[in-house]
Amino acid sequence: MNRRHIWSWRNSLVGDLAGAVLEIGVGAGANLPRYRKATCIFAIEPDPKRARQAQAMAMRCPIPVSVKIAVAEALPLASGSVDHVVSSLVFCSVHDQRRALREIRRVLRPGGALHMFEHIRPQTPLLANAAGKITPYWRRIAHNCHLDRSTLETLRAEGWETHVLARCGVFVRIKAWPR
Ligand SMILES: C[S@@+](CC[C@H](N)C(=O)[O-])C[C@H]1O[C@@H](n2cnc3c(N)ncnc32)[C@H](O)[C@@H]1O
Repeated sequence: MNRRHIWSWRNSLVGDLAGAVLEIGVGAGANLPRYRKATCIFAIEPDPKRARQAQAMAMRCPIPVSVKIAVAEALPLASGSVDHVVSSLVFCSVHDQRRALREIRRVLRPGGALHMFEHIRPQTPLLANAAGKITPYWRRIAHNCHLDRSTLETLRAEGWETHVLARCGVFVRIKAWPR
């Protein structure tokens, strides 16, 4: 996957989301200028430096954005308060995927959906084995990024209905709904 693909995946991930949106692990806010239809965006990010960068990016956004320092496992939002949740390249790093999914389920309104662009455990056994071996070292230098997470399976085990919209190597676009 080249840079152009990643660019267009970002646009298709968030461009058409309408209503109130929560983006978890917003980082420096790379997705923020790409929202076109949202009425408001809540963004959370645990890293204060990145949260400041996202705040600066939010200033260039025509849509109201509020950035808070928080983790996906403890969302500072009321239950049933957002129409969509966005996670781009975050579920590889969260400390507890299952807890984060429960929190996302809590804050979503009935009919709401989770939109993900993530990298997951490779499908071929050889590469999956290599990813498992590298991850203990990689996560130390890459902010807890795991190369071997079975995020799709975790979603299904937590009772989410999943739709894989696109897949390119280890990268996957997923739309998921709480069942
Ligand atoms: C690879 S960056 C992706 C940033 C951004 N989503 C993007 O697409 O550019 C991963 C982000 O996840 C954040 N993160 C790590 N653990 C998290 C957690 N438990 N809850 C929410 N965000 C987390 C990191 O601080 C980092 O900003």
